[in-house]
Amino acid sequence: MSKETNIHTVNCTAFQDQKPGTAGLRKKVAVIRQRHYLETYVQSVFNTLKLPAGSALVIGGDGRFFNPEAIQTIIQIAAANAIGKLIIGKDGLLSTPAASNLIRQQGAAGGFILTASHNPGGPDGDFGIKYNIANGGQAPESMTDAFFAASKVIHQYQLVELAPVDISKTGLQRVAGIEILIVDSVTDYTRLLQELFDFDCMANAMKKGLSLQFDALHGITGPYATDIFCRLLGAPNSSVLNAIPLPDFGGGHPDPTPVDVPDLYQLALSSKSPDLLAASDGDGDRNMILLPGQMVSPGDSLAILLANAKSIPGYRDGISGVARSMPTSAAVDRVAQHLNIPCFETPTGWRYFCNLLDSGDIGLCGEESFGTGSSHVREKDGLWAVLFWLNLIATSGLSGNQILANHWRQFGRDYYQRYDYFIPDSSQADALFNELKLNAELPLVELKERQLKSIDNFTYTDPIDGSVSSNQGVRLQFVDESRIIYRLSGTGTSGATLRVYLQQLETNTTQHTNNPGDVLKPLGMLAARYARIEHYTGLTRATAII
Ligand code: G1P
Ligand code: ZN
Repeated sequence: MSKETNIHTVNCTAFQDQKPGTAGLRKKVAVIRQRHYLETYVQSVFNTLKLPAGSALVIGGDGRFFNPEAIQTIIQIAAANAIGKLIIGKDGLLSTPAASNLIRQQGAAGGFILTASHNPGGPDGDFGIKYNIANGGQAPESMTDAFFAASKVIHQYQLVELAPVDISKTGLQRVAGIEILIVDSVTDYTRLLQELFDFDCMANAMKKGLSLQFDALHGITGPYATDIFCRLLGAPNSSVLNAIPLPDFGGGHPDPTPVDVPDLYQLALSSKSPDLLAASDGDGDRNMILLPGQMVSPGDSLAILLANAKSIPGYRDGISGVARSMPTSAAVDRVAQHLNIPCFETPTGWRYFCNLLDSGDIGLCGEESFGTGSSHVREKDGLWAVLFWLNLIATSGLSGNQILANHWRQFGRDYYQRYDYFIPDSSQADALFNELKLNAELPLVELKERQLKSIDNFTYTDPIDGSVSSNQGVRLQFVDESRIIYRLSGTGTSGATLRVYLQQLETNTTQHTNNPGDVLKPLGMLAARYARIEHYTGLTRATAII
């Protein structure tokens, strides 16, 4: 039976809500499972991209509920859209950084990554799909805007009806005229990390007693972490917690923050703390680094990785430049200044780093939301960040806390916190934000609490392709170098989340034992008063402080 004769055209009505956010299309499972929903979106992507016949695509996901069904659907639509080859992680599993690596390594035209990152999974949880391009990074904003536009007018899609393809065994098969290559999810990614880090040095340090506790939160990183930490570095199996990926992440919220991983955080605060503790999220791109007694704030982590990069084999020749998302703390800026390399400030979302990584202008980048990465892939990479810290501790012979203290002594310390306000009625969030945007256009007002230096609504012009992204967050800069930033989340699946980012620089090293929560409380209160959060939403306190 020829491939062409088997193609079915299915008529459908366009959905109007398939707008990709900061990290692709993300919806409640019940929404994604509606008849024709996933199909129309995937077809809209193909209609937009018009990939050459025979193109190769990668498919994989974080193993959440609906992952297997979604993969079969994508296979059927890809087969009808002249795709020549599909490279799929065994059992449909690929961490987001591993998928990015596979796209690059296989020279694929792109790939579909099935994840809602750190959002809960299961039948009542969230699902997501994002398209990554040939460089391994997320489709740029102009492209996802085009997907959205196509999804609003689509009235039919094509598919080849197939019996479910067996994706549980590695190897090549030919189905409906396309090649399907099932690959081990872990091998290539592990090999990539072995090229960057000094595994012998880390294994030796672990043999001598350096201890690690990693929590995979029943997300995708379990198999990767077990391979790297246990098989290659000799850590005991007990050093990887919750290592089996589960469709509902065991009912938890797979987000590596002290709030969502309280047991690990408490272990770090206890007298029994291992030398390094870490967790990653559902799809493996985020990282939380804990040391005995404290968490390393993601902004500090990025700054420290940059400051010490030359002691890691993969970065021995130095870093050309660095980038951080606008709300991320300015800790890395001072290191870049010290190293005399450029530091770029981009909108929130990893995709804004990708042009700079491709051009070689930057070698490291990060976000306050527990995301750090480098040019080795085009996604942030949780396990990469953990290995970076482990390698730093192992080669320097210093404890993580010593590394952190030395850093603050040399560069100063940025106290940093994010207040998240969950607002069920998103129209309230819009009204609040509209007032903030308006304020950003008016002359500066005087605040009784502290002196404002400037206020604006961040606009970014990509230095490589000139594209402009406006309305990326309202920021208040104060004369004393402290800062408040407001933005609305682009990854939620219901209501709205107002994110308020607080930062205050402290250069007096004797003050460094302070708790960020105490230091930043006045700034948090000012932020709430300035934005009239209670007036618009009725909320008198943040839903979460991270
Ligand atoms: C959040 C983070 C952002 C990150 C994104 C995807 O987006 O804030 O830094 O890139 O998740 O992991 P938000 O919900 O704030 O739009
Ligand atoms: Zn993620």
